[in-house]
Amino acid sequence: AQERTTSSAAAAAPEIHKGLAGVVADTTAISKVNPDTNSLLYRGYPVQELAAGCTFEQVAYLLWHGELPTDAQLTELEETGRAQRALAPQVRAAIDLVPTTAHPMDVLRTAVSVIGASDPTAADARPEADLAKSVRLLAQVPAVIAYDQRRRRGQDPVEPRSDLGYVENFLHMTFGEVPDDVVVDAFRVSLILYAEHSFNASTFTARVITSTRADLYSAVVGAVGALKGPLHGGANEAVMQMFAEIGDADHAEAWLRDALAARRTIMGFGHRVYKHGDSRVPTMKASLDRLVDHYGRPDLAALYDRLEAAMRAAKGIEPNLDYPSGPAYHLMGFDTPTFTPLFVAARITGWTAHVMEQAAANSLIRPLSAYSGPPERHLQG
Ligand code: ACO
Repeated sequence: AQERTTSSAAAAAPEIHKGLAGVVADTTAISKVNPDTNSLLYRGYPVQELAAGCTFEQVAYLLWHGELPTDAQLTELEETGRAQRALAPQVRAAIDLVPTTAHPMDVLRTAVSVIGASDPTAADARPEADLAKSVRLLAQVPAVIAYDQRRRRGQDPVEPRSDLGYVENFLHMTFGEVPDDVVVDAFRVSLILYAEHSFNASTFTARVITSTRADLYSAVVGAVGALKGPLHGGANEAVMQMFAEIGDADHAEAWLRDALAARRTIMGFGHRVYKHGDSRVPTMKASLDRLVDHYGRPDLAALYDRLEAAMRAAKGIEPNLDYPSGPAYHLMGFDTPTFTPLFVAARITGWTAHVMEQAAANSLIRPLSAYSGPPERHLQG
């Protein structure tokens, strides 16, 4: 009897999947990450092909609808977005209330919340209403980011221009001009590469919130919060802080040795799913190389290469997308704390596609936990 009790207790012990590592939580038709073949497909298309031949709006349409748009469908999406690029006065007022000492992700999280709270259709959960909200957010997030970076620099806001494409207008609103093609193209590539990546932490957060039947804006606000962390989207700005700390390529090996000895996490390296390299890195690195040539910054490229080689030699860990995108955004002229909001601008597409997929076949996401606290006890007297 003793033996039977022990073995049945052992059988009842739940298997814990810490960090949900290795857990397949649901199906998705939006993207496929394959670490064995080092590939990433959006709706079946390799992301490298999309980055080579598509606009960001085409990729947004693909993620939302499952197919690339026809010319007429693309024109309709572009026109709807262009008409909604300006921020409502209450959104600007809300941004102005947030101190400039706050992180730009906090500003963006607040602004998305105000955009949602101002939308009379926020609670309308019909697919066409959620799609309209997704288009609106995609159109307005660049204005929030540009407005915030400019106010921090003491610059007047630049109004959106409906004669410019999404990427050109984003850069124009931020810098007051449309930069050279090489910059526009690198920014376009980064947005496409960042757009979607299956059940990453922020997307899963959005799906959890949607599973409670909360509205799309609530899901996106939660996702912004999840993306802020340095183990996720916050890594792209942390990479640039690390580069500033190292300073010179000649210091890379010694800096890494000390950092690893101090058990520091090296930002921009490693990935929960990719263990042999991130499928998106070569494409972004090629864009970074073009920016390095354009801006004449071989010192930055040297630091990049030396640290990457040293990390590979020391730990066998490869860079993730945040490693090339951080220095790329730096060269483009964005302030370092603005990098993670740029990730949001791209990932809004993937998040909202997942929100709509979750809502279409919903089941409340509610895992179990294994209790590890004190046994049952009672108040005295
Ligand atoms: N620096 C130093 N060591 C690392 C790093 C790193 N960046 N990444 C992994 N390791 C080590 C871990 O310390 C661990 O070593 P150990 O077995 O001796 O304890 C081993 O590699 C396995 O790592 P895990 O932490 O188990 O891997 P996990 O899948 O949990 O973590 C994560 C993935 C969080 C991305 C991790 O690699 C990391 O912290 N990277 C830095 C942050 C970063 O760049 N995030 C961006 C993610 S991609 C994106 O959002 C676009």
